[in-house]
Amino acid sequence: MNPPEDVLAELRELRAGDLPTHGGRTLAYVYDSGLSEVDTLGAAAHALASSANGLDPTAFPSLLRLENDLVSAASSLLGDVPGVVGSVTSGGTESCLLAVLAARDAHPSIESPSIVLPTTAHAAFHKAAHLFGVRRIDVPVDPVTFRADPAAMAAAIDDSTILLVASAPSYAHGVLDPIEPIAAAAAARGVRMHVDACIGGWVLPYFAKLGAEVPPFDFRVPGVTSISVDLHKYAYCPKGTSVLLHASAELRRSHYFASAAWPGYTMLNTTIQSTRSGGPLAAAWAVTRHLGSEGYLSLAASTREAVARIRSGIADLPGLRILGDPISTLLAFTASDDGFDLFTVADEMKVRGWYVQPQFAFAGSPVNLHLTVTAANHGSEKEFLTDLAASVDAARAAGPVTVDPAVAEFVAALDPATLTSEQFAGLLAAAGLGGASGLPDRMAPINALLATAPAPLRERLLLEFLGALYTP
Ligand SMILES: Cc1ncc(COP(=O)(O)O)c(C=O)c1O
Repeated sequence: MNPPEDVLAELRELRAGDLPTHGGRTLAYVYDSGLSEVDTLGAAAHALASSANGLDPTAFPSLLRLENDLVSAASSLLGDVPGVVGSVTSGGTESCLLAVLAARDAHPSIESPSIVLPTTAHAAFHKAAHLFGVRRIDVPVDPVTFRADPAAMAAAIDDSTILLVASAPSYAHGVLDPIEPIAAAAAARGVRMHVDACIGGWVLPYFAKLGAEVPPFDFRVPGVTSISVDLHKYAYCPKGTSVLLHASAELRRSHYFASAAWPGYTMLNTTIQSTRSGGPLAAAWAVTRHLGSEGYLSLAASTREAVARIRSGIADLPGLRILGDPISTLLAFTASDDGFDLFTVADEMKVRGWYVQPQFAFAGSPVNLHLTVTAANHGSEKEFLTDLAASVDAARAAGPVTVDPAVAEFVAALDPATLTSEQFAGLLAAAGLGGASGLPDRMAPINALLATAPAPLRERLLLEFLGALYTP
């Protein structure tokens, strides 16, 4: 047997190679309150309940109570409208999946159901459509504001529509879709309307309390039938919890699942999972209970200040331009001249100890860098902006990243549907994504090459890459 302290030391060493989850230097994937007691409390609560199983609420009534408390807290924050019910899920994607599943299974008579969503909706809805055999009607957004176009979405509704989706805000640009007219269009046709507030739902209400102008997006808007809000984002809870709210128990019922048609226990599930660890649930309950409205208001105030400082600093930096009018905690900025390469800026930021997330051009949205700003960014905005300015200068000095036109032409002509895994392996190696050797420090040449590939080819290339990574 390996002594526990050795095993933990090994784990610590492995974790040391990861992006930092605390300190505000990783501006995607992680959410840091900057309060160490929040992490300690979350970990302790997680440990207390991690072996309890949410599969059977009658066996573990504590978990039932925790879940009802969390749903009630989310519901109070998002309109405080009577009749709202919900489920705690493992994350934003699961909440979005269940919203689509509930809508689909409420209409078994629709042969080829479809969802109407803006092109900026989170890819979780693409996954839902893929898994549940639902057609996606992607509706272009306004090319300047990147907000959903309510008239175009209304026009896309037909007899097969089971759900409309809008974001509060969108992940890519952090802009709020016009929820009211979209919900009105859905209601007029008797169609469900989901507000994806996975990333904004726990912070926008506090921004509003602090005086920000936040157009209505919650259950007070007539026609909104479900809302997702992630606790592992701006509720600053450990990973593994989101809440999916439905306006009524009737609307929620169709994502529940039961099977008594086997010799074991009657399987009764509220979510995709069956066995559900009590750990993330207890951690989220403890963190939200500890912070309360007062704690979240104070975290929102710091975050709001940090995001405003970063935004105005970027606006003042020659060569950079914020996309749209982000109202929340997320920013996306692009290059306003072609004297430098944005992927190189991301690499240069990495050299300076910051992770910023490259986003490829898509449907009118240019190549850009995404920032998820959290409370932990408060206080280091100046340092961030100084390093960003230096990174842009370094990228200008380095000059553009060029993809050999012959390679670009070759890649563009590839058909992901007919290429074999072996051919992809060769291509990945040529692109510097050879797998086991890990990623190179500088991603700009790889990103530049990937940017030349049409989305379906990029998907396939990166899936092959993923497969290579997950090979023991
Ligand atoms: C708006 C939105 N929806 C859905 C998701 C998916 O959440 P998760 O990564 O927790 O599955 C995200 C994640 O960032 C998001 O921002």
